[in-house]
Amino acid sequence: MTDSNSGSNCDSDSNFLTRTRVFYDTVAEDYAERFRDVLTVTPIDRALIDAFAELVGRGGAVADLGCGPGRVTAYLDSLGLSVFGLDLSESMLAIARRENPGLRFERGSMLELDVADGSLAGVVSWYSSIHTPVDELPRLFGEFLRVLAPGGHLLIAFQVGDEPKRHDKPFGHDVILDFLRRQPETVVELLEAAGFALVSRTVREPDASELSRQAFLIARRPG
Ligand SMILES: C[S@@+](CC[C@H](N)C(=O)[O-])C[C@H]1O[C@@H](n2cnc3c(N)ncnc32)[C@H](O)[C@@H]1O
Repeated sequence: MTDSNSGSNCDSDSNFLTRTRVFYDTVAEDYAERFRDVLTVTPIDRALIDAFAELVGRGGAVADLGCGPGRVTAYLDSLGLSVFGLDLSESMLAIARRENPGLRFERGSMLELDVADGSLAGVVSWYSSIHTPVDELPRLFGEFLRVLAPGGHLLIAFQVGDEPKRHDKPFGHDVILDFLRRQPETVVELLEAAGFALVSRTVREPDASELSRQAFLIARRPG
């Protein structure tokens, strides 16, 4: 059964956002345990976050949007960025706050940020756009652009592919969510249409635990 058509116009905000929130509220503790130390064994991913941090500059204000349990937020903080995390899932945020008591985490949707225009030096979307239907990406990327100051940078990571992936009973829980894979060129086109200039495009092969290639794009708000 595939009821969550990724490109459907019928898939209203409340539907896909609610599905995403319920899914992550359910799997939050297992997800956090599974992915807690992944960055320590993925040097290419880490290097791209390092490059992003250097482009933003020490002390730069950064939002980690769809931060989950806050592992990337904590890494960005360790690189000297002034970062906060935002997520839809209260259970994810509870873990992020518990594990990173010195950092700020807020609840909200990255499609509608309570953040002033042009106020950030960086935006990170680390595997968080993968539940947003493709026809909502122009709106999402428009929101990323809006909150970035001219010259600010975006880092976005996602799985490469054409078909969504559905995990059977993720971590043993009875919840369903599509993990939308995309072609990097599609995402680049949408970023450029939103007003971004592409800075770098990296695609790496899957490691032993992954099912698809992984894409990492860095883009800049011109100006
Ligand atoms: C695959 S997890 C990645 C979490 C984290 N970035 C990491 O790498 O560990 C996706 C996260 O994005 C969040 N998310 C998805 N859509 C969102 C939205 N519209 N606004 C805020 N958070 C969202 C989910 O709640 C979930 O925590």
